[in-house]
Amino acid sequence: MQSQYQHLIDLSDYPVSWWKKVIDLGEEIKNDPSRFAHECDGKVMATLFYEPSTRTQMSFQTAMIRLGGQIIGFDNPNNSSVAKGETIKDTTKIVSSYADVLVIRHPVAGAAKAASLTSDCSVINAGDGGHLHPTQTLTDLLTLQIEKKTLSDLTIGMCGDLLNGRTVHSLCKALSMFKGNKFVFISTPELMMPAYIKDIIKANGSTYEEVNSLEEAIPSLDVLYMTRIQQERFASQEEYLAQKNTYILDYQKMLLAKRDMIVMHPLPRVDEITVEVDDDPRAKYFVQAKYGVYVRMALILTILSEKKTSETLIGKLYPGVQCDNPKCITNHEGYLPKSFRFSGDETLLECEYCDERKLI
Ligand code: CP
Repeated sequence: MQSQYQHLIDLSDYPVSWWKKVIDLGEEIKNDPSRFAHECDGKVMATLFYEPSTRTQMSFQTAMIRLGGQIIGFDNPNNSSVAKGETIKDTTKIVSSYADVLVIRHPVAGAAKAASLTSDCSVINAGDGGHLHPTQTLTDLLTLQIEKKTLSDLTIGMCGDLLNGRTVHSLCKALSMFKGNKFVFISTPELMMPAYIKDIIKANGSTYEEVNSLEEAIPSLDVLYMTRIQQERFASQEEYLAQKNTYILDYQKMLLAKRDMIVMHPLPRVDEITVEVDDDPRAKYFVQAKYGVYVRMALILTILSEKKTSETLIGKLYPGVQCDNPKCITNHEGYLPKSFRFSGDETLLECEYCDERKLI
């Protein structure tokens, strides 16, 4: 199962120079969108959203329409043949024969990777469970480039559900590739950043600290990235309620922050930022969502113009070895090759779909 099309599943599949190219093109589009109005005339984009979305789905659709292309797709799998039990493989195979690019959001980690194996067009990962959200990261990087004028030497606080927040996972991986960035992880012990992300940060030469007080952390930050406690990822309502409302950014806490700190949030928010903060010029979360259209326009143009540069699966099959993550797509769609790569340690295998590690 290898694909001949260029995909975006994980930003780590590309060098930093490629991300920069997409972000710079996004900024160019922002400054003169009309110049790109016919770049995708005659092209079709399919959006397959197995999970709810406002920004990602609509900004992708807006992006394609603003490039002159057209859109098809579903935003509720129950209105498609998924409700009759169709696999990702079959849905992808069919829809990719109708479209030039396929954008997929799915509640299970590795689903976009699985789709890319059998797709007859390019696949873009619009969020796979609690795993990754690379186009949110491109949006975040463009926001930093425009609002802070740099992607380096920043102290970035990340606050809230760092365990389940795929946006912060992708963003940490990306920002740790730029020199001098420091991370401050602000969470409860139950919702700390996963070990594999912290290992990547260390391996890339960046530093992090873990704290539980937003008030204590905020004065040192250049960027505060707030996240929602993700109710849909908890095993029970009790566990969710125990975490809800732990961190709330309000006017009083903003008084403790630097005058040029910016507040970002992938949105949707629930209660973690009070509405009074919206009027603070340092609140950048609404404009951040708008920049998502420009960077997705840039991504569509880039993906459609490139030839495939690497294999879709690079790992190996180990007879009898399965991923231990119940939220991994390989444990939901049985036909998928269970491919693993070494994590740098000879005793640790890493699932190629969800990055879960396994001792051998
Ligand atoms: N930031 C983000 O992914 O928002 P949606 O869930 O609304 O797409």
